Amino acid sequence: MKHLLSIDELSADELRELLRMTPSFAEVASRRIAKVPALRGLTVATLFYEDSTRTRLSFEVAAKRLSADTLNVAVKSSSVNKGESLRDTAETIEAMGIDAVVMRHASSGAPWQLTKWVGASVINAGDGWHQHPTQALLDCFTLQQQFGDLDSRHIVMVGDIKHSRVARSDVEAFTKLGATVTLVAPPTLLPPATNTWPVTISHDLDAALIDADAVYLLRMQRERQREALVPDMREYTALYGLTAQRASRLSTSVPIMHPGPMNRGVEIAADVPDLDQVVVVDQVRNGVAIRMAVLFMLLGSGGSAALPVLEAVVDDPDQQVDESAVAV
Ligand code: CP
Repeated sequence: MKHLLSIDELSADELRELLRMTPSFAEVASRRIAKVPALRGLTVATLFYEDSTRTRLSFEVAAKRLSADTLNVAVKSSSVNKGESLRDTAETIEAMGIDAVVMRHASSGAPWQLTKWVGASVINAGDGWHQHPTQALLDCFTLQQQFGDLDSRHIVMVGDIKHSRVARSDVEAFTKLGATVTLVAPPTLLPPATNTWPVTISHDLDAALIDADAVYLLRMQRERQREALVPDMREYTALYGLTAQRASRLSTSVPIMHPGPMNRGVEIAADVPDLDQVVVVDQVRNGVAIRMAVLFMLLGSGGSAALPVLEAVVDDPDQQVDESAVAV
């Protein structure tokens, strides 16, 4: 596999294989020097046309932990501001000898376009409302940590489904792994095509939560809404927010997830994120390990065919960075 653009390009077996690889990469983080030489000599560029904290930073950390060089194209202070096109920006980066471009863009499909212009691997870090594949992978990994297996688990996703690339990617990934998904939102925050999605639709959050194994809250994406889709935010929060009262009715074994950034007081009450069953920080931590696995799969010698070698690469002391050399 050369690129990672969407979840539907991964078979269930490939998805499971990536998840199986991830603990080895997570283990690297616990080392005194959290670094392995798996991608030494390669360069990973991040090209974000939309804001990001978690995704951009975690790709950067992931690449550094694999010893790749990193290059962050600060779009807001780059020649994009002088009108440079995506194609010219891409070809400029390519000319510098980049091996992978991690791209976020407001337009759905932009990463597919990028693959036509660069020889490097392209990783979709979020394109419009469309896909956010590494978010889905880290969410599956986080749920696996909770359940062991997603098969037959019931995941309730609630909030602004219409504008959510996370919902589109997660639904595909969760159902590929055998989970059932209920989407809860007002009709105005659901996309028209959900009848073709492998989900149940509900407008009653309290009913959906009764047999939820996990609750996944989605941010109200006001920056993408061109019309008033919710007449009153207080009413929205009362009907679709995870209030303290709703959270108190959940079993403490039900993980509460959110991709971030959270709108405290809108989709989640201000103090609910402090509950022990909220796994938002685990999601962020797992994001680094999953992105290491993705970078290794795409750029590591042998790509996905090298999976059996992975543990050897990560665990073989001879392959680890010479700590004394680093200290010097
Ligand atoms: N979850 C997520 O994509 O967060 P960022 O926008 O901070 O990258």
